[in-house]
Amino acid sequence: MLGNLLFKLVRSSDGLRERLWKLAYETFPKVLPDTDWWFMNYGYEPTDAERYELGTLDEQQFQWRSRAMYHYLAARAKVAGKDVLEVGSGRGGGLRHVAETMHPASATGLDFAASAIAFCHKNHAGTPARYLEGNSMDMPFGPDSFDIVLNVESCHAYRDQALFIREVARVLRPGGKLHLVDVRATWNWDLLYQWLTEAGMELIEDVDISSNVVTAIERDEPTKKALIKKRVPFWLRGMFTEFAGNVGSQLYERLKNGEIQYRRIVAQRPA
Ligand SMILES: C[S@@+](CC[C@H](N)C(=O)[O-])C[C@H]1O[C@@H](n2cnc3c(N)ncnc32)[C@H](O)[C@@H]1O
Repeated sequence: MLGNLLFKLVRSSDGLRERLWKLAYETFPKVLPDTDWWFMNYGYEPTDAERYELGTLDEQQFQWRSRAMYHYLAARAKVAGKDVLEVGSGRGGGLRHVAETMHPASATGLDFAASAIAFCHKNHAGTPARYLEGNSMDMPFGPDSFDIVLNVESCHAYRDQALFIREVARVLRPGGKLHLVDVRATWNWDLLYQWLTEAGMELIEDVDISSNVVTAIERDEPTKKALIKKRVPFWLRGMFTEFAGNVGSQLYERLKNGEIQYRRIVAQRPA
């Protein structure tokens, strides 16, 4: 009940939005300290062609479809030898996957939830990924610092997304690219395209991946349902079911009926 109410407030109230998201993301690592829970995205079901062209994952591994969201995004970005920043790195598993398997020159994760960063420091220590606390709208980096910025299912929650895009354009080197996946309504995607243009970024790829995400949600349903029952405190289960986008959640229904779209985009700062 309480969890559901909090979720509705997060979704509906503009004024409270940022603080409630922060509260929610600060709370997760505390109520769910499980060290193997590395991802917080809805998951991605790759096609056979992608498996062939971009490689396969261990499809028995815990949360492999959430890992796949990163794998099939970053494999396209060709990150080897490049300086990579992930904004909204969450529990850190995605950036760790990229850092350990794709050989970037550096891999930096930024997240505004101090408890998520503490989780990463504890659980991803000794890996090539580093994690810093900071806000997407005021990044603690100088201009021209990165070749690639990754952003996975995070920017819809930012208070000022136009400012985030300007920050991305600032920290990217000329020719650098933003690889982003997110879920939002058509009008909201149009706004994002407008902010990219205003920041001088060029949209060079835009693919609707909603069906890959819907399939991932459906195939992960039994595992996620059982996990929530086993690991999430009773009073938070309603909210988690929504956050996890389980079958029957508002997110799942809206994605399935086309009201919102999950897209993968690539935008480039001109060279
Ligand atoms: C749905 S989670 C996704 C996490 C991770 N990308 C993944 O796929 O597992 C969204 C993340 O964005 C972070 N976030 C939200 N607003 C932020 C902001 N203004 N600045 C930095 N991080 C933010 C949250 O703390 C959370 O970790």
